[in-house]
Amino acid sequence: MSNDKPALDPHPLSEYVAWAGNRNREPLLGVLKDKFPTDEGQVLELASGSGMHVNYFAPHFEHLHFHPTDRDQDVFDNIKQLSVEQGNDNIADPVHLDLTDPETWLNVKGEPHSFASIFCINIFQVAPVSIADGMMECASKLLTKEGFLLIYGPFKIEGTFSTKSNQAFHNTLASAGVDEWGLKDVADLNTAAQKQGLELKEKIDMPSNNFSLIFAKI
Ligand SMILES: C[S@@+](CC[C@H](N)C(=O)[O-])C[C@H]1O[C@@H](n2cnc3c(N)ncnc32)[C@H](O)[C@@H]1O
Repeated sequence: MSNDKPALDPHPLSEYVAWAGNRNREPLLGVLKDKFPTDEGQVLELASGSGMHVNYFAPHFEHLHFHPTDRDQDVFDNIKQLSVEQGNDNIADPVHLDLTDPETWLNVKGEPHSFASIFCINIFQVAPVSIADGMMECASKLLTKEGFLLIYGPFKIEGTFSTKSNQAFHNTLASAGVDEWGLKDVADLNTAAQKQGLELKEKIDMPSNNFSLIFAKI
């Protein structure tokens, strides 16, 4: 794997997103090993993109069944191809789920409140903070009583950048001229969560100044 950082490009099948995923997937696996249930269960991924994460995690949790989703249906062939190549038989076919469109949440197979966990990696820095409302509502509908939502990425904390490098990353995103690009604030995610009966339970420091945010029912 090359350590050279490709140019910023949020397209889910870009070299940049693959580079970021190659760096964060092992630390994320460590968190999931700590948090995922040891009993059988269903796990949903939001904004799966290329499918590299779900395909990396699934073999480590054979007792769990994974459901990848994305707004962009062009990525589905890639997700399925990785599952076939890697022989992962505990990953469902990806389904169309747009966090801004509750109709699409019904595409997810499974009863309400039947998901032990939902995870979502690297969406907020390239999406409007308003998607938090849909994400929290969707999570509150789909999670079991003890279930949790893990959101991974770089964030501001109570209006402040936790490091100079996160401030610099925010400036790079903001200078691209796309209104919704930039680091979002954990406090705003928590406000959205509380409207749906969820709250931030844990903020785990991750490498490269990222965070794993764990939300669960109040
Ligand atoms: C930067 S990519 C990250 C993909 C993947 N999670 C990863 O880390 O490799 C952001 C992803 O968010 C998805 N996305 C953006 N807006 C969305 C929405 N409203 N609902 C669901 N997915 C969305 C995009 O289609 C894209 O796959």
